[in-house]
Amino acid sequence: MRPSDPAAPGSGGLVDRHGRVATDLRVSLTDRCNLRCTYCMPPEGLDWLPKVEVLTDEEIIRLVRIGVEQLGIREVRFTGGEPLLRPGLPGIVAAATALRPRPEVSLTTNAIGLSRMAPALAAAGLDRINVSLDTLDRARFKQHTHRDRLPDVLAGLQAAKDAGLTPVKVNAVLLRGINEDDALPLLEYCLEHGYELRFIEQMPLDAHHAWTRSEMVTAEDILGRLTATHTLVPDVEDRGAAPAERWLVDDTGLTVGIIASVTRSFCGACDRTRLTADGQIRNCLFAREESDLRTALRNGASDAELADRWRIATLSKLPGHGIDDPSFLQPSRPMSAIGG
Ligand code: 5AD
Ligand code: SF4
Repeated sequence: MRPSDPAAPGSGGLVDRHGRVATDLRVSLTDRCNLRCTYCMPPEGLDWLPKVEVLTDEEIIRLVRIGVEQLGIREVRFTGGEPLLRPGLPGIVAAATALRPRPEVSLTTNAIGLSRMAPALAAAGLDRINVSLDTLDRARFKQHTHRDRLPDVLAGLQAAKDAGLTPVKVNAVLLRGINEDDALPLLEYCLEHGYELRFIEQMPLDAHHAWTRSEMVTAEDILGRLTATHTLVPDVEDRGAAPAERWLVDDTGLTVGIIASVTRSFCGACDRTRLTADGQIRNCLFAREESDLRTALRNGASDAELADRWRIATLSKLPGHGIDDPSFLQPSRPMSAIGG
């Protein structure tokens, strides 16, 4: 490899062998969650990461800073598990928004506790928020998440909007025979409140490895349901590396999106890199290998050394997730321990 090679460690950004450049960093702040969505966690929870293995606030902030200052990261999204469970969250957000060049900073959350936290997060400079919500029926929510918390989630959404964390996006995963018929009520609720709804095709990232392709609710199924009662016109705005395909709904001026991660995968335009709560770099949601930054960091590695390890971790990113490949193997970590 020549030193001028943009993919060579020691200089430049996070480039892989297929020419993609990662500029969007997803940071999982904890693997814990206060819900137990059936497609994500068993009711009894999972074996949580031992506290000593979880990065401290200072360690997270240092790695985010290296990403932004040395590796070309332009967007930082904090996820979990449930990131609002992390007491230092406003401080972490404030540190991220103080970096230069200033990254876009957003949060993916289940919104429990957000009604209390939204003002502090807005004051810390948080730009946007994505809330996970799969049903508007209280009994079904309780059954699906094993917690009776729907009112808290709806209050959290409203608080995010009131605090100016806009556009407020709602992420919904539909499961066959469970909440497929929530598609329209969710759309109507989001239109009424000015939230941007996006449906996400369920991916094989569940803790119990129960996902099957044939049971999955596809983008086509979802479109069929929505267009039965609404006129959807494709949004012509350039999609770039955004995973959602978007449609304008009726004459509302608002959009609905579908993230067809499985049936219309967008790996070729992927600009993501991921940091787990225990300090591992994952170059893909579906990666089967991780690169340990925590050990190096705790052994006194310099910023330049850590940046180099991150570049090397990126080089081997596979061209696609290969879910349709007969040899596909689900990653050993579930979604809650990777970050969405
Ligand atoms: N497939 C698709 N989306 C998922 N999420 C969690 N598990 C899966 C899965 N297997 C969603 C959550 C949340 C976001 C982080 O990812 O509902 O909105
Ligand atoms: Fe928690 Fe999100 Fe998993 Fe639901 S999907 S249990 S909200 S981490």
